[in-house]
Amino acid sequence: MIEQINNLFEEIKNLTASNAEELEALRLKYLSKKGIINTLMAQFREVPAEQKREVGVRLNELKNAIQEQFNALKENLAGKEEELCDIDLTRTSYPTRLGTRHPLSIVKNEIVDIFARLGFSIADGVEVEDDWHVFSSMNFAEDHPARDMQDTFFVEAHPDIILRTHTSSVQSHVMETSKPPIRIIAPGRVYRNEAISYRAHCFFHQLEGLYIDKNVSFTDLKQVLLLFAQEMFGTGTKIRLRPSYFPFTEPSAEMDISCNICGGKGCPFCKGTGWVEILGCGMVDPNVLELCGIDSKEYTGYAFGMGIERITNLKYQVKDLRLFSENDVRFLKLFESAN
Ligand code: DAH
Repeated sequence: MIEQINNLFEEIKNLTASNAEELEALRLKYLSKKGIINTLMAQFREVPAEQKREVGVRLNELKNAIQEQFNALKENLAGKEEELCDIDLTRTSYPTRLGTRHPLSIVKNEIVDIFARLGFSIADGVEVEDDWHVFSSMNFAEDHPARDMQDTFFVEAHPDIILRTHTSSVQSHVMETSKPPIRIIAPGRVYRNEAISYRAHCFFHQLEGLYIDKNVSFTDLKQVLLLFAQEMFGTGTKIRLRPSYFPFTEPSAEMDISCNICGGKGCPFCKGTGWVEILGCGMVDPNVLELCGIDSKEYTGYAFGMGIERITNLKYQVKDLRLFSENDVRFLKLFESAN
């Protein structure tokens, strides 16, 4: 009998109960009327007198040990059930909150849609570029200040590899790899080595346009830009083109639209002039066409480039450029209904 008791000591060390049923099964097996302990108690009567003391003490120890083990398992289970009860099953379910589209994406999509309706397709470019596509093929002179360390981020140890400073770099890729007629827009992120403030950032977004075919004229450019301005800012919007300079276009111009915040009367946004500059444009310089493998005697083209942050500001009057990249949910939520 001593041996049987010792085996039971071993057995109960490993008892577990992961739910109330299992616990009850243990109780029935060991502690109930017909359980093991009671059965042993009954058999105890038959134990020879000289062994009674030893077996009796051991049997009592076993009984206590099983009871203790049972209590411990019970307590453990009660704790778990309490944890489960922490879940408030009466709480109503609610739909998951969806994210909102970023204001720059909203405006970019709007611009893309307008040009897509005019037959432009989207060209993709890379942000880490080589000097050729950003500057040389775009007719920038060797000593042009835009190549300067002040403006351009260089990839260390590779003076030829840079972060693109404008999306005009996509122009040369497209011209090198496709034949006219070419009619593309290229939206994307660009980088400039600027101190970050409310009005400047070291990265921002542009959208480039390029159209090359036979007999493309400045009038075509003007017409497309007028249509864009009126689609984007309303039919009453006026445009004006001012002569300007870009290495990759000749002639070049900057385009203003009548300030859509004050309707052209003059306000702090347009600095009282009634006009706001929104893009640069011009006829693709024949040098650029030739550098990119297009016969400039046969083809002409126009190009334009605009800042997406600027257009977004005109639409939504965001005063601090940094808001666009901070991902503050309170700011982003303002555009929930503009999606
Ligand atoms: N790349 C110019 C910039 O970053 C913008 C620009 C001006 C693009 C004139 C053009 C253009 O395609 O014709 O400021």
